[in-house]
Amino acid sequence: MNKSDFSIFAQHPQLVYLDSAATSQKPKVVLEAIQKYYTEMNANIHRSAHFLAESATIAYEATRKTVANFIKAKHKHEIIFTRNATEAINLVARSWGETFLKAGDEILLSKLEHHSNLVPWLQLKEKIGIKIKYLDIDEVGQLIFDGSQITEKTKFVSLTGMSNSLGAITNLKPIIKRAHEVGAKVMIDACQLAVHSPIDIQELDADFLAFSAHKLYGPTGVGVLYGKAELLEKMPPFLGGGEMIQQVFEDHFVAGDIPNKFEAGTPNIAGVVAFKAALDYVNQIGFETIQKQETSLSEYALEKLKTLPYLTLIGPQEVENRGSITSFTMDKVHPHDIAEGLSQKQICIRAGHHCTQPLMDYWKLPATARASFAFYNEKEDVDRLVEGLEEVYQYFS
Ligand SMILES: Cc1ncc(COP(=O)(O)O)c(C=O)c1O
Repeated sequence: MNKSDFSIFAQHPQLVYLDSAATSQKPKVVLEAIQKYYTEMNANIHRSAHFLAESATIAYEATRKTVANFIKAKHKHEIIFTRNATEAINLVARSWGETFLKAGDEILLSKLEHHSNLVPWLQLKEKIGIKIKYLDIDEVGQLIFDGSQITEKTKFVSLTGMSNSLGAITNLKPIIKRAHEVGAKVMIDACQLAVHSPIDIQELDADFLAFSAHKLYGPTGVGVLYGKAELLEKMPPFLGGGEMIQQVFEDHFVAGDIPNKFEAGTPNIAGVVAFKAALDYVNQIGFETIQKQETSLSEYALEKLKTLPYLTLIGPQEVENRGSITSFTMDKVHPHDIAEGLSQKQICIRAGHHCTQPLMDYWKLPATARASFAFYNEKEDVDRLVEGLEEVYQYFS
């Protein structure tokens, strides 16, 4: 289904791509949009009055509007383009965190977090002495939350919407509600969630949200930060340079308005412009179809993988409250050997700690093997994975 929309599958007819959680493949419409941008309108945005700059600016700003619609943001100026989700989270940690947090303030993360949603806060802990607490997880990797973990001392909560290692989807609403009751702000790392499920940011009521275009069928080098306008307006710029200012003097500067205040320097214009093509493509297929396909693949994969006695599935064992990511270990075989063995058959999975070392430590595992599915995968891909795993196991045992 839809494989023909992606050139890479024609280039590698035997390819079984099960690493979409790391980065998705890009549909032809995205490749064409990059080509079209450079051939028809390449110019720097916002600054020049000539017609090419005008076209480039219109195309760049059209993506901002599309992203705002994609997550149902109230205003288009609440969307900031960054290099990736990592930069978006760093922006909040540095700009909001350094301004509004002080030594001893508590922030709440979870054991599921990607390093991108850990290290910026650990840096802030080193720099200003904040305290970091962690939400625990149960035996299948679902967050444990009963309200008591957020207290008057909690000033900020930053959580993943879906675990990139386990696929577990977090129940965000009660956590956001409780955080707001004590006046804490909330950031959601939606890198995985945004790919698999529609987001209504106003309904969710998170204060900040981050995701990367490259996992959402768009180009690399583009990230999105959503922030409520009233918060972004009070935050100082993260990086300084061109584009983000209103006026510059020898001894001071006046920052521009949002979103420009947070977009210093020439951005990845081609990437942002082409990201619109990716979102249009996703919208055209629709999350209903995407979720149906991904759930049916997950169900099939779980069923098949459970029949292999030498595999241990890590994370949610059923399709409920999970996205299409499956982590597992194999008796006596290191995950890296599994991935290398499968790669020889053109089956791409990911092996390692998946940038979640504290989660792996918690699970007392050095690494897992992870197969992640997108809507372009088919049941035959799962069959090829299972056959490949059987061969790898025979070879190593
Ligand atoms: C949950 C999660 N958060 C953050 C990131 C970081 O994304 P990026 O490398 O695009 O900044 C990833 C990427 O794997 C992720 O899965």
